[in-house]
Amino acid sequence: MDWAYQSSFSIEGGNFENAGKASIEIKKILKNLKISDEILRRTAIVVYESELNIISYADQGVINLSVTGDKILISVDDVGPGIEDIELAMQEGYSTATDRIREMGFGAGMGLLNIKNCSDELQIFSEVNKGTHLSIIINRMERES
Ligand SMILES: Nc1ncnc2c1ncn2[C@@H]1O[C@H](COP(=O)(O)OP(=O)(O)OP(=O)(O)O)[C@@H](O)[C@H]1O
Ligand SMILES: [Mg+2]
Repeated sequence: MDWAYQSSFSIEGGNFENAGKASIEIKKILKNLKISDEILRRTAIVVYESELNIISYADQGVINLSVTGDKILISVDDVGPGIEDIELAMQEGYSTATDRIREMGFGAGMGLLNIKNCSDELQIFSEVNKGTHLSIIINRMERES
């Protein structure tokens, strides 16, 4: 099967009122496409953590979702401060979240790790003072567990 579905979501930095909206939208789309619950769950986590990071740290961003017969591709691009040390940022518990972000219940330093654990492939590119790009693949074939 080589059909493909594609859509893009714009995310505004600093706008916590919209937190989670893209991931809710994407869940609906994937349900309509009859994507299995486990793949839907992993995709929703990846999108949720990505949108929260744009809202928390960047000026603006775009999340692009593509679905093919065998893969879900999520690409995330933002304009913002970038990540100086990606390895450090990936570490469990590492966070530069401000008090304001922490008061809203975010900033545990788990987001990027969560994205990694839910992805089959993850690439992160970032340039300081320019922005961050994430490229994520989730295979639609269930993982053997
Ligand atoms: N898009 C981004 N732009 C700039 N910095 C980022 C971006 N995403 C993550 N970071 C940096 O990496 C750190 C770790 O991100 P991660 O998502 O793992 O945790 P968090 O956002 O701090 O907390 P949590 O996701 O658990 O609420 C952030 O605190 C921030 O310093
Ligand atoms: Mg985060």
